[in-house]
Amino acid sequence: MSGRVPIEHWQANIEAVLLGLPGGLKRVMVLRETSSTQDAARGAGCIAGDVIVAWRQTHGRGRFGRRWEDTGEDGVAMTITLPAERVERLSIIGGLAAARAIELACAGVQANVGIKWPNDVLANGRKIAGVLIECAGGMALMGIGINVHQRSWPAELGDRATSLEQLGVATDRLNVMIDVLLHLQACLGMSDTWLAEEFARCDLLKDTDAAFRIGQREVRGRVLRVEAMLGLAVRDEAGVEHWLPAATTTIVKD
Ligand code: BTN
Repeated sequence: MSGRVPIEHWQANIEAVLLGLPGGLKRVMVLRETSSTQDAARGAGCIAGDVIVAWRQTHGRGRFGRRWEDTGEDGVAMTITLPAERVERLSIIGGLAAARAIELACAGVQANVGIKWPNDVLANGRKIAGVLIECAGGMALMGIGINVHQRSWPAELGDRATSLEQLGVATDRLNVMIDVLLHLQACLGMSDTWLAEEFARCDLLKDTDAAFRIGQREVRGRVLRVEAMLGLAVRDEAGVEHWLPAATTTIVKD
């Protein structure tokens, strides 16, 4: 489509950014089409620090086996491979990096960008990005999907999803990916305290009432706080406090 940076420019542009970064993100693999960048990362002999991005992703998946809408050539689909250490921390970092890139893109428009724990990024109450962390071969595969150019959604997502373009932002997927990588690398080097403060700034769940499922168990109550490195603290109707880990908790009602 006219006006968009062609795929042929992605590799060199992303590589140039990675080369300038102080941390461990170094190699990039650009795929014209893949079912899921998560699967591509498993199958491509990747090592920690590799970045896999797709021009088109056809069978993306979300947390808990949910489907991630086909990006077509409209969305960001990327996976970053990292050492599988402190996955709860990585989960928070993925959300922060995506949220910060979206906030930057939205600088000129009216958009309230925040994170619904653990790492759904919402803009004006609609989902604009999601993060999936999977562990394989001693690595954490951090999958990030961001809605950029989409203008319409399947009926079931219609009033729950949005894209940068729908918010009035004119940008390109390459810019968004680069901003994600810059913020990801910065966040990886930050202290837990900094990450917790940054998360608190974007936190959309604090002080809300919600119901959560952890395996077969359901907890309903008031969200007291998000401890970025531990999980979510919820006080149930009986006044009992629960810690809910990001990896195994879903929000069933809020
Ligand atoms: C969620 O919201 O549940 C997480 C969505 C994660 C989607 C991204 S797109 C790139 C990567 N590849 C996938 O198959 N999933 C993630």
